[in-house]
Amino acid sequence: MFNSKSSPQPSTFIGAGVLYYGDNLAVMQEQIDAASIDLVYLDPPFNSRRHYGTDFDDRWSWDNETKEGFEILFKFQPLICEVIQIMRKLERRGCIAAYLVWMSLRLLEIKRLLKSTGSLYLHCDESSAHYLRTVLDIIFGRAQFKNEIIWAFKSGGASSKSFAHKHNTLLFYAADQSLCRFYSQKQKSYNREMKPYRFQGVAEFRDDVGWFTEVNLRDVWFIDMVGRTSAERTGYPTQKPEALLERVIKASSAKGDTILDPCCGSGTTLAAAQHLGRKWMGIDNNPAAISICLKRLNNYNQTILKRLSA
Ligand SMILES: C[S@@+](CC[C@H](N)C(=O)[O-])C[C@H]1O[C@@H](n2cnc3c(N)ncnc32)[C@H](O)[C@@H]1O
Repeated sequence: MFNSKSSPQPSTFIGAGVLYYGDNLAVMQEQIDAASIDLVYLDPPFNSRRHYGTDFDDRWSWDNETKEGFEILFKFQPLICEVIQIMRKLERRGCIAAYLVWMSLRLLEIKRLLKSTGSLYLHCDESSAHYLRTVLDIIFGRAQFKNEIIWAFKSGGASSKSFAHKHNTLLFYAADQSLCRFYSQKQKSYNREMKPYRFQGVAEFRDDVGWFTEVNLRDVWFIDMVGRTSAERTGYPTQKPEALLERVIKASSAKGDTILDPCCGSGTTLAAAQHLGRKWMGIDNNPAAISICLKRLNNYNQTILKRLSA
């Protein structure tokens, strides 16, 4: 939970980045300069009401730390407090409201750290995506909203009482829409019946599946979760695939840019950033996550060295 008095733990330098072990709010407030970050990818606890073993707790309640956070928030963003007050009325236990206090404090800090050309991707799911979007509209401004990206996958639960939950949401905001850099990527769009259209001036291609044209990448992404036998699997419970992060990083940063992941977990963003030639900063307050990151990034460096010397 939020702790305004906790001071960050010592940082560790690896390759092209800095890994911080500590509470991300304290690290962002005390260790990172304003307007110094090109891209933030934030994959926080989702308010899933689950406890991930010894790794982290995603259950929330309106306790003294939340009250303290709410008072701080009131000074900087009274409008968010109005939203939070409504949530307290809607849900008596105050779980969502407490979660939104925690998130809002961090999102405010992220806004301060972003360069005016920078971008934020907030990874969430259906439990809080709609509330978080409201909070982001207040902090960043409605005009800075760029995309709601749907990450669709096959794995996960299979409910018989509702449709199976098979997607997460990435909320993409610009620090300043007029200055934001965006590098468009292409995807295959297969022709109907997989046959060639032969439209004039439209390049068509063929692969094992059939004929296709190339279109600008859409906002629904089908990417498999990290499988049990995948080489990138670390065993961390909420690990995301590197392919997902590669898309985000390629879309919203250039080589040499600085990427921040304030909830870096097993270090997926850091590994993808390193691989793509970006500088990175990672923060996590779980020692297990930090030790996985250290191992993963050292392995990654060795892999690059092996490739270079081969
Ligand atoms: C959903 S996981 C991130 C998973 C990561 N994207 C990956 O691919 O492995 C959320 C992470 O946030 C971390 N976390 C939770 N509260 C934190 C805090 N106050 N400061 C820093 N990290 C925190 C947890 O330890 C956890 O590793």
